Amino acid sequence: MSLHLLHQFPRLELLGAPTPLEHLPRLSDYLGRDIFIKRDDFTPVAMGGNKLRKLEFLAADALREGADVLLTAGAIQSNHVRQTAAVAARLGLKCVALLENPIGTHAENYLSNGNRLLLDLMDAEVIRVDALHNPAEQLAEEATRLEAQGFRPYIVPVGGSNALGALGYVECAQEIAHQSEGVVDFAAVVVASGSAGTHAGLAVGLEHLLPETELVGVTVSRQVDAQLPLVERLRQSLAETLEVQATAPITLWDDYFAPRYGEPNDEGMAAVKLLAQLEGILLDPVYTGKAMAGLLDGISQNRFRREGPLLFIHTGGAPALFAYHPSV
Ligand SMILES: Cc1ncc(COP(=O)(O)O)c(C=O)c1O
Repeated sequence: MSLHLLHQFPRLELLGAPTPLEHLPRLSDYLGRDIFIKRDDFTPVAMGGNKLRKLEFLAADALREGADVLLTAGAIQSNHVRQTAAVAARLGLKCVALLENPIGTHAENYLSNGNRLLLDLMDAEVIRVDALHNPAEQLAEEATRLEAQGFRPYIVPVGGSNALGALGYVECAQEIAHQSEGVVDFAAVVVASGSAGTHAGLAVGLEHLLPETELVGVTVSRQVDAQLPLVERLRQSLAETLEVQATAPITLWDDYFAPRYGEPNDEGMAAVKLLAQLEGILLDPVYTGKAMAGLLDGISQNRFRREGPLLFIHTGGAPALFAYHPSV
């Protein structure tokens, strides 16, 4: 079975080239196990991150529909919103974002530094909401308001996570397969699992291309019982879009996101420091720090299905380091 339909979807070339896949020698020595990293924090728009891959497909769809606004939603420190604003700027579109404060903090850095500062630089229009209790409905209402003003908004779902956006991570799985071919056989790939598009896309891609490699999603906002249906629904909708099967078991670890989404924890921050100090690589407090905490604990608790090298997907997020300093 092949993933050939992937290339039939209109797509903007925003990445330009595959992101690097690198060995981490000092971390590997420290852990006694080979660790590699996929540098999706290096995607080339406004400090990078995983959303650019999704936006290649979503923004192409927006242009095809004749949109003049990218409308989306997220936390005040959303990396997704920052990357959507950057793509809008690059395409000469307006960006409107509904933003919530999921941890109810009044810390000045959280409210105005990090990703939030970058939104102002890129001239995104920010609408503060009490909570994103039903983002799809809230985005549809805002779209109606914008239409009444004569705009043609395109709704980019939270995290860019629908089947179209998730195609970007099928593409990433293809890059991983090419970059590792004949070089390294990954026992497992570890990724943060939030709105689930990244996880679902990798799941479909890796099941076809590297079926012996376990994919572990480390949850950053939900326990397994809530996250599993999200990943599964998106994976099936993506599989249908590509006319392929997706039946591999989905692995989720939910032990590393406490106390809640958007609030750092000690293990996550220790992982951020470890990568900074051993490799000069900047993780973030909300997603990749917690996912790396999962990888580290997974090694010490023997949670991976087999021995061998591990690949960590660095999905970005370092701009939020400034927002969480000093700790919120
Ligand atoms: C840095 C970072 N890593 C991981 C994720 C999670 O990706 P997804 O929402 O596709 O699950 C996000 C989502 O916002 C993110 O900003």
